[in-house]
Amino acid sequence: MPKLIVTIFTFIILTSYFVNVSSSESHGTKSPPTTWANTSPYGSHERKTVLQFYFHDVMTGESPTVALIAQPIGDNNNSAALGFGSLFMADDPLTVSPDPNSNLVGPAQGLYGAASQEGVNLIMGLNYGFVDGVYNGSSVVIFGRNSIMNPVREFPVVGGTGVFRMARGYAVAETYFFNITSRNAIVGYNVTIFHL
Ligand SMILES: *[C@@H]1O[C@H](CO)[C@@H](O)[C@H](O)[C@H]1NC(C)=O
Ligand SMILES: *[C@@H]1O[C@H](CO)[C@@H](O)[C@H](O)[C@H]1NC(C)=O
Ligand SMILES: *[C@@H]1O[C@H](CO)[C@@H](O)[C@H](O)[C@H]1NC(C)=O
Ligand SMILES: *[C@@H]1O[C@H](CO)[C@@H](O)[C@H](O)[C@H]1NC(C)=O
Repeated sequence: MPKLIVTIFTFIILTSYFVNVSSSESHGTKSPPTTWANTSPYGSHERKTVLQFYFHDVMTGESPTVALIAQPIGDNNNSAALGFGSLFMADDPLTVSPDPNSNLVGPAQGLYGAASQEGVNLIMGLNYGFVDGVYNGSSVVIFGRNSIMNPVREFPVVGGTGVFRMARGYAVAETYFFNITSRNAIVGYNVTIFHL
């Protein structure tokens, strides 16, 4: 009988040891080597990462990063391209500072369209695919309404891949530069992400 108790006790100790090892491996504690991102432990199964970067939306000029891909029938007028119903495809660079030539952390790729009959409000679905450091190959997806005339907006983070699997969170975006004539913009992002 005492032998059986010792055996069971040993089994429990070994089992809990292996459970601990595997859980610390699957929830690793990689720390980012870069300054635009900062990861810390969150709940027992999650981590929290805060990313800061700048989004460059170039609608006109020598090398636009946005293409008008659809407009309401009969509204064939590019100068009014932000009118209701216009749809755009974007491949916008994300950089560490407002300077477009600063270090690239990824592109934001996807669609946005003018979704309001009054004012200029976009509906935006973009994949933010990162190419820097431990985030290289990982992405988050943001989907939400973008009231571009408000200096500060908030968007939901609806998912992610790689480091950001199971992501949920929010992005606070603040217009840093907007030229109403060219419609080119630079937008600062602070993105808070909870993920595995
Ligand atoms: C195109 O849009 C601009 C700005 O809204 C407007 O002033 C102009 O009259 C429009 N041109 C045509 C041909 O519809
Ligand atoms: C990111 O990953 C790609 C593909 O694995 C690789 O070619 C590239 O050099 C990496 N970039 C950085 C900055 O690590
Ligand atoms: C982002 O965070 C920095 C400091 O962490 C702050 O200075 C900046 O105002 C924030 N930007 C937005 C758009 O919230
Ligand atoms: C705004 O865009 C217009 C048209 O492209 C350009 O002529 C003007 O210099 C720009 N202004 C600024 C401050 O960049």
